[in-house]
Amino acid sequence: MIDFRYLAQRYSTPLYVYDLDHMTKQYEALKEAFKARKSLLAYAIKANSNLSVVRHFARLGSGADCVSIGEVKRALLAGIPKYKILFSGVGKKDEEIREAIELDILYINVESEAELGRVEAIAKELGKEARISIRVNPNVDPKTHPYISTGLHENKFGVDMESAKRMYITAKNSDNLDPVGIHFHIGSQLTELEPIREAAEIVADMVRSLNAIDIELKFFDVGGGLGIRYDDEETIAPYDYAQAILGVLKGLDMTIVCEPGRFLSANGGYFVTKVLYEKINGEKRFVVVDGAMNDLIRPSLYNAYHKVEVVGEKEGEKTPADIVGPVCESGDFLAKNYPLPPLEHGDLLVLHSAGAYGFGMGSNYNTRGRSAEVVIENGKDRLVRKRETFEDLIALEKEFLED
Ligand code: LLP
Repeated sequence: MIDFRYLAQRYSTPLYVYDLDHMTKQYEALKEAFKARKSLLAYAIKANSNLSVVRHFARLGSGADCVSIGEVKRALLAGIPKYKILFSGVGKKDEEIREAIELDILYINVESEAELGRVEAIAKELGKEARISIRVNPNVDPKTHPYISTGLHENKFGVDMESAKRMYITAKNSDNLDPVGIHFHIGSQLTELEPIREAAEIVADMVRSLNAIDIELKFFDVGGGLGIRYDDEETIAPYDYAQAILGVLKGLDMTIVCEPGRFLSANGGYFVTKVLYEKINGEKRFVVVDGAMNDLIRPSLYNAYHKVEVVGEKEGEKTPADIVGPVCESGDFLAKNYPLPPLEHGDLLVLHSAGAYGFGMGSNYNTRGRSAEVVIENGKDRLVRKRETFEDLIALEKEFLED
């Protein structure tokens, strides 16, 4: 049991709290599921990029999936070795590609023919051979929220199979490109296994057809996307997930790379916020809290559900209320029509499953400093990011103020 009242007193609110022991359990369950093969779990840094969280995964042996050179540097700083770091993303800048090649990371996930051309040209300038993997788009509907669905041709990610084949041939014939892997990622918060199996099968067939023309790949990168329970959804067990992938890889001697983000960090995270006021507009009940969409945007952006826990015993009947923050937007809410007991100034609410895509998607909108972040490990709490102050928020502007 986490003592949220104590944490709120010690660190103030709004506050992110991460239970590292839960994250360890998730990591180990997934690693164990793949034990029949060589595998690399490359934690998707974007889910929760706090350095201490990333260091925790580094110590467990995790690699990192990064989508900017900033994330690559974060992963290195946190202690993830370069040979376990991947660089994905649909729009890498020349400087990012250059740095990734110089840093000698495991491979770059290439997402278009044009990008392959840039990687080759930059590697040539550097007199190096860049290890690459190609992100293919298997055109499979992952059946998740449209904003986090990526595996259909209508999405911007990856390349179709025909183009991918051409790209592998180009890479094989180039002195500056070394094709080492194949990558797909069909979406996030996946709760159905069949689309994953289908995509993996399409990609495994592609590997076989490449083998037939003497292109041998070492890494079979299945992306991330494993869903978690926010409410009462049915989720995919790590064992079944791994079995589906292992099943399609028969006869292929490849290392499985997996890029889980949410699965590792979401349910170890909590967002703690304090009640400021209760108010009723006509029939509608609002609970106004000190946390807002700039801290946790998932409800506003995806209509996402986060379970809400009221800290301590409260008397009285539960009635539906919208939990809203101080930001000047009608879209600023953390929950809609959530059954809550009568609340008062100073009561604490805890939003669950906030360890992935919570803090990292935050902003300073309305000149609000971002929350502090705290971790709990072996029952002990420690600060891992200070609350942002007003001075922090204006630091990059102040010098330009004219008299
Ligand atoms: N690999 C690639 C190439 C990705 O694009 C992503 C996530 C992952 C791995 C990790 O996916 P995960 O295992 O966490 O599902 N902000 C959204 C989620 C966006 C996911 C973007 N890509 C949300 O809050 O639901």
